Amino acid sequence: MENIVSDRLIIRKFKENDWHDLYEYLCDEQVVKFEPYDTYSENQAKEESINRANIESFYAVCLKESGKLIGNLYLSKEDFNTFELGYVFNRKYQIKGYATESAKRLLDYAFSNLGARRIIAMCSSKNTRSWKLLERLQMRREGMLLQNIYFKTDSNGQPIWFDTYEYAILKSEWHKHYD
Ligand SMILES: CC(C)(COP(=O)(O)OP(=O)(O)OC[C@H]1O[C@@H](n2cnc3c(N)ncnc32)[C@H](O)[C@@H]1OP(=O)(O)O)[C@@H](O)C(=O)NCCC(=O)NCCS
Repeated sequence: MENIVSDRLIIRKFKENDWHDLYEYLCDEQVVKFEPYDTYSENQAKEESINRANIESFYAVCLKESGKLIGNLYLSKEDFNTFELGYVFNRKYQIKGYATESAKRLLDYAFSNLGARRIIAMCSSKNTRSWKLLERLQMRREGMLLQNIYFKTDSNGQPIWFDTYEYAILKSEWHKHYD
């Protein structure tokens, strides 16, 4: 993959030595609150950056000016030319428009270069920042699944159930919005 460049950002493949910037946000409880994993240790972040450098689905989002890795996008190919989008950003670099700017470019790339026909995303109904991002990308809310999943347990070991919003956008809808 060639780097994708936007006004303020570079979207590129992960490198094995990205672990320090990756650790900076994956060690943050607030950042992983709605993720299917707990906070990472330094060693786990080292292993994870090697893993991400060797698989297709993870994209590092970096500041154009400094090269600092500030978060990641995830885009994984499913059946029927459908791709699933995900995203996690360092708290210091949230609410600045970086997630929207990078996801918009990646979706455009997926529809134009990866053969995507439909892109979907799922998030907890409680993760307002996440579904607001999906709506800024013009994705449609297609459904809400009640208590369909849990990633974490409470202090008594009981599941913390999430209600999940499902979002999607078709290639035809994307071009209607953005061409
Ligand atoms: C989900 C997540 C990526 C959303 O990030 P975000 O910071 O809300 O999204 P953006 O980076 O696009 O920022 C948009 C906000 O920046 C504001 N903003 C500030 N400066 C801006 C600028 N120069 N340009 C554009 N927007 C700007 C926008 O107004 C918008 O604010 P609003 O939502 O209050 O209207 C982020 O909350 C996150 O990483 N969370 C933790 C991981 C997670 O939960 N992932 C999803 C699991 S389903």
